[in-house]
Amino acid sequence: MATLEKCVSPAKKPVAMIRLQNVYKNYGGRPALSNVNLHIALGEFAFLVGPSGAGKSTLMRLLYREEVPTTGNVFIGGVNLNRLHAGQIPLLRRRLGIIFQDFKLLSSQTVFNNVAYILRALGVDEAEVAKRVNSALAVVNLEHKWDAYPSELSGGEQQRVGIARAIVNGPPVLLADEPTGNLDPATSLEIVQLLERISQRGTTVLISTHDQPIVNAMRRRVIALKGGEVVADVDNGIYELEMS
Ligand SMILES: Nc1ncnc2c1ncn2[C@@H]1O[C@H](COP(=O)(O)OP(=O)(O)OP(=O)(O)O)[C@@H](O)[C@H]1O
Ligand SMILES: [Mg+2]
Repeated sequence: MATLEKCVSPAKKPVAMIRLQNVYKNYGGRPALSNVNLHIALGEFAFLVGPSGAGKSTLMRLLYREEVPTTGNVFIGGVNLNRLHAGQIPLLRRRLGIIFQDFKLLSSQTVFNNVAYILRALGVDEAEVAKRVNSALAVVNLEHKWDAYPSELSGGEQQRVGIARAIVNGPPVLLADEPTGNLDPATSLEIVQLLERISQRGTTVLISTHDQPIVNAMRRRVIALKGGEVVADVDNGIYELEMS
């Protein structure tokens, strides 16, 4: 797993942070993903779009090893996830920041404790925890809410806590499956712009969404899935209706 941090080949050419090679995923014989090939470089920012049932969440679950492909290979930072044994999966997850549509915050814990959770689980000492949590909360502009509980926050604020929690351990890759699905349009745009700013610091960011206005406002790479197949993959892209 040490190779996960080694993002640059000896020739100084960035290797893919995320790579899918001839990936098929079937559920009970029905294909959810078909022959997906994808290459997302270190520091890239991309949208994964497509209609309901297109396979977006399935692809995301393969990336954090919640599922394995029926055939084909999935690589994160050059590590073939098919080759990980069960004991190595937590190591993979620590190197991925995962952001959920429904935030998945601990309701009985403060903002600070939600963001600190993973660091404490890793045995990081409290002085370092405080430093890293404060710095993650500063990135999402929520330092002043450190003592609040999730129920005291707006949806957008809760998602910003979710983002702080995802970045607190400095992962090279951020995966967000429909991160704006529960938010209004203006808040959605702010959240996606925040994720773009984080990617500019060198983090690879993949966002699945069917929010057409957001994708079209950003004009970034758009990877479109339809019926489990990649039907478009364009830089500075828009989410065209015919993709859905
Ligand atoms: N655990 C599962 N068992 C069986 N079929 C599944 C499972 N998960 C997904 N599928 C099927 O795989 C296909 C792709 O589903 P997926 O959830 O990846 O789509 P999606 O693009 O994320 O859709 P949405 O926009 O609604 O979230 C669908 O036909 C779905 O019914
Ligand atoms: Mg989904």
